[in-house]
Formats: sequence, C-alpha cells, structure tokens
Amino acid sequence: MADKSVLLIIGGGIAAYKTLELIRRLKEAGIGARAILTKAGTEFVTPLSVSALSGNKAYTDMFSLTDETEMGHIQLSRSADLVVVAPATADLMAKLANGLANDLASTALLATDKPILMAPAMNVRMWNNEATKRNLKTLKNDGVLFVGPNDGEMACGEFGPGRMAEPEAILAAIQAILAVRGPLTGIKALVTAGPTYEPLDPVRFLANRSSGRQGYAIAAALAAAGAETLLVSGPVEIAPPRHVKLVRVETAREMLAACEAALPVDVAVCTAAVADWRPETAAGSKIKKTGEEPSAIKLIANPDILARLSGGVQRPTLVIGFAAETENVIANAADKRRKKGCDWIVANDVTTGVMGGERNKVHLISGSGTESWPELEKGEVAVRLAARIAAALEQAA
Ligand code: CTP
Repeated sequence: MADKSVLLIIGGGIAAYKTLELIRRLKEAGIGARAILTKAGTEFVTPLSVSALSGNKAYTDMFSLTDETEMGHIQLSRSADLVVVAPATADLMAKLANGLANDLASTALLATDKPILMAPAMNVRMWNNEATKRNLKTLKNDGVLFVGPNDGEMACGEFGPGRMAEPEAILAAIQAILAVRGPLTGIKALVTAGPTYEPLDPVRFLANRSSGRQGYAIAAALAAAGAETLLVSGPVEIAPPRHVKLVRVETAREMLAACEAALPVDVAVCTAAVADWRPETAAGSKIKKTGEEPSAIKLIANPDILARLSGGVQRPTLVIGFAAETENVIANAADKRRKKGCDWIVANDVTTGVMGGERNKVHLISGSGTESWPELEKGEVAVRLAARIAAALEQAA
C-alpha cells in the first residue's frame, strides 16, 4: 500500500477530531494523506495538528501563490488515488451536488478525476432534510461513495442518524476502494448472513428477524483486508459490499449447497440466522381457505451449516460461528462451540435490540478463553474480527 495516498477534505463539524485519528490509522496502514481544511474545518482542528500527523503540509483557504507554485490546486486534487471528505458536512455535500466551487475544498472536489468517498456528519434533522436527501441521491447517482453516517447520540444532544462513521470503518472503506493488498490478501473467505426463508407454499414462509448487517459488515471487512470473499446471503435489504462476491439464497438447504460449492476456503464465518426447522412439506400451490382451520404444521430439522463446515472433509482452517443468546450468554455460547465443532464463537446478547440495530456487544470465545469486547458499531466489530482472523491465519500458516 506504500504507493497509495488519499486527499482528505476536512469539513467544519465536531466530528473533525475523529479525522485526526483517521490520519493516524492511514499512516499505520501505509496510506499517504494530504489534507485540505475548509475554513469551518479550521475552527475544529488546526492545520498544524493535521500536518504534524500526516507528515504533509495541510492546505487551507489561505492557499497562497507560493503553494500554487509548489503544487497547483488542480494537481492537488489529482495528487491522490482517492478523495475522502470527512466530515462531509451538509454544506460540502450541497456544494458538490450542485457543482459549486468557491473555496479550495469545493474546487478540488470539482476538479478531481479520482473517486470520492464521503463520510457525512451532521445533525439528524439536517441529515433528514429533504434538500440533503436530494443532494445525497444526486451524489450517489454521480458515483460518489459513502461510508456512514451511523445512528447515535450527537454532540448537539439529539439522537439518530448523522454521526460520522468511526475511523476504523472509514479506513476499511478506503482500503476496499483502493483494493490494495491487505493482511488477508491470498486468503479465501466464506461468510453466511441474513435469515433463511422456509416455504410453506409459494407465497408463505417461516423466517426470522435477522437483518444481515453484521454478516455484511464482516464480509466487507474481510474483503477490505484483501480476502477473496464470498457472501452467501438469505433475503435482506442491504446493498452488496464492494469487492465481495454475493450469492443470494432463500432456504437453509440452498445456503448449505452454496457454502459447500465454495469449498475449499481458509476461513468461514457463519453469521446467518438459519432456521433450525422447516415445514416438512411445502405445498406446490397456494394453500386456500377451506372453511376449516389448517391442521398443525409439521416441522423437520434443517442441516446445521456451521456444524457441517466444521466437521467436513474440506474443513476451513478457521471456522467461526455466532451465537445469539438471551440468557447465560457465555456459557450457552461456549457449549455451542463445542457441540458444533467450530474454532471460535462470537456470542451476543440479543435481548438488547442488537437484531436490526447498528451496534453490537460481543464476546469472542475460543479454545483459549473468552474475550469481552466493548459495545461497538457492527462495522467496528467486523474490522476487529477481520484483524483477529488475519493474526490467527498467519499463526496457523
Ligand atoms: N447455524 C447454521 N445452521 C443452522 C443453525 C445455525 O449454520 N441450521 C449457525 C449460525 O449461523 C450461527 C450458529 O450456528 O453461527 C449458532 O446458531 P444458533 O441458531 O444461535 O444456535 P442453535 O444451534 O440453533 O441453538 P439454539 O437455537 O438452541 O440457541
């Protein structure tokens, strides 16, 4: 990644302090950074701290003729492989959506020939405002990429979408876009996600509330770390992550077949909420009302995909399961790890609105004990898990 670099545009928002952390992480990942601060951006972080962390001059609207001879503003806009706007304020989004260019940041955005990634951050009402929604749509249509915003409590005391994505998640998005070598380059990964639909007839099915978010985030993080990633997903409403091959399935049996077809892989992460049972028979045509209540639906067991992968002849080097528990979280999950034969179990307490939510508090249970992680965005859980997978596979190699 040594030859990759980003141009950071730092807008005026309280989240700008997280951009300093992002610069530090970019450096750790070997990605170079130059930065432009908007006038409002300089109210939140100083050009001095930005340039000290990035090791490069930080540009502001005080951009002088001397700067122009060092590096012209057009060249600055093209000097990097990617332009990252963090925080992307409502104002910066509006400017780019409408082609305005009245300061260095907006000029660079309009003049660049590189992809643009925005990490929006603003008050929830500003984010939900119809004008911002229109601008977001326009920018997406124009090919601008987005990471976040997340739900959460804001500096202004309100709650909702508008918090800037965490630095780890922005870094993961940058790495995915740059499609650069990461710690998992050369590794094949398989991830299952979402619910399964088990048909009763052509229009009715048994399903569950899994949103698939954690699994999609894990697939994205593995791909961002360089893994060749296949995501086998039950029906969910999430856009496929970049650089991830997606296979859509409905039933547990279809999910198993897609997983087995993907073998051999180095790591399998089973996050799917697979239905444990399915109706014994699925009617070929719609079950009609007959005036009588239907008799009981007989359920039969579905294959356990995690157990099959763990016990199969082509067992991946590392098999990871998830355990959604409502009581005795760690003990039940540890039990599941033994029964299913996987290496690690990521356990979470689903009584706290995790299903469908943005955050997750998990415990990583392996043969050597239990690690309890703090409550994190699902994207951050994914990034941490990808890092742990990379370390474990390196040790196993
Ligand atoms: N799993 C699977 N195939 C199934 C059922 C579960 O691959 N048919 C995987 C899930 O993807 C998850 C792990 O097994 O990684 C735990 O699933 P869970 O449903 O929580 O456990 P169960 O074994 O079904 O136990 P219980 O429902 O009693 O909690």
